[in-house]
Amino acid sequence: MSVKVFINGELFDEGEARVPVFDRGFLYGDSVYEVFRTAGGKPVDMEPHLDRLERSATALVLPLPPRADIEAAVAATMEAAANSESYVRVIVTRGKGAIGLDPALAVEPLLIVIARPLQSPSAEQYAAGIKLQIVGVERTSRRAVDPAVKSGNYLNSVMALAEARQHEAYEAIMLDRDGRVAEGSTSNVFVVKDGRLRTPNLEVGILGGITRWRVLRIAGELGVETEEGEVWPDDLRGADEVFITSSIRGVLPVREVGSAEGVHRPGAGAPGPATRRIMDRYEAFLGEVATG
Ligand code: PDD
Repeated sequence: MSVKVFINGELFDEGEARVPVFDRGFLYGDSVYEVFRTAGGKPVDMEPHLDRLERSATALVLPLPPRADIEAAVAATMEAAANSESYVRVIVTRGKGAIGLDPALAVEPLLIVIARPLQSPSAEQYAAGIKLQIVGVERTSRRAVDPAVKSGNYLNSVMALAEARQHEAYEAIMLDRDGRVAEGSTSNVFVVKDGRLRTPNLEVGILGGITRWRVLRIAGELGVETEEGEVWPDDLRGADEVFITSSIRGVLPVREVGSAEGVHRPGAGAPGPATRRIMDRYEAFLGEVATG
């Protein structure tokens, strides 16, 4: 098991990987990135992840290396790291240049790929669920740095998670400025009420999670009614079931929702029956990726 880092054509061990201090990714978070995992050593949903990387880069007018170069870098880094299952992070920064905000100062983009052993949540967390905390840190507006863009600027999420940790919660839930539920610091959130699955719609200002998209498809296949719409804190507090999704975690059940109004437990426990079915189907999907 090892960590390998690809930086513009060269592979490094964890302790040797360096970027220039004048890189705009370091100075300003002026970068885009993606995180995905492998199943059976094969990347899971790499294509939609790289599609999203392209959309993020387009939104920031940040030039990307050709797709084939990124795919080759991913393959080389995974091969060098030689882990049975990998966490893969692809980062493209606008590159280095003279200090100054003007994007035109950047010389050329920097492509970085990190491959390290996959670390999933614990079996206990999947079995008993995790705690969410609805935090005061607001999700950035779509008219600021649009949450749909997966940029290297993650301070909004860092501060949200720091607040959640003060409440011994595993993940934060941020609201938008009107008080609607947006998303977690690195996850999307779903509620189940009376057999229906609901998740905040993209218009609220969230990352369009690849796992979120998979789960909506899976729910449809299972005959579970789904709705993308407005979700309010009271929906989280009064849900039968709650779960979060992300590429590394898959589907992770929620046992407690903390907020200024105290701690609420989803009525049907964690994981509830609908969550359990979706978790099982998602596991089966990973199995299909693994067996090709
Ligand atoms: N984050 N929302 C935010 C803000 C995220 O950062 C992520 C993922 C998600 C879930 O998206 P997906 O299902 O495509 O992983 C939602 C990754 C895992 C990370 O930053 O590590």
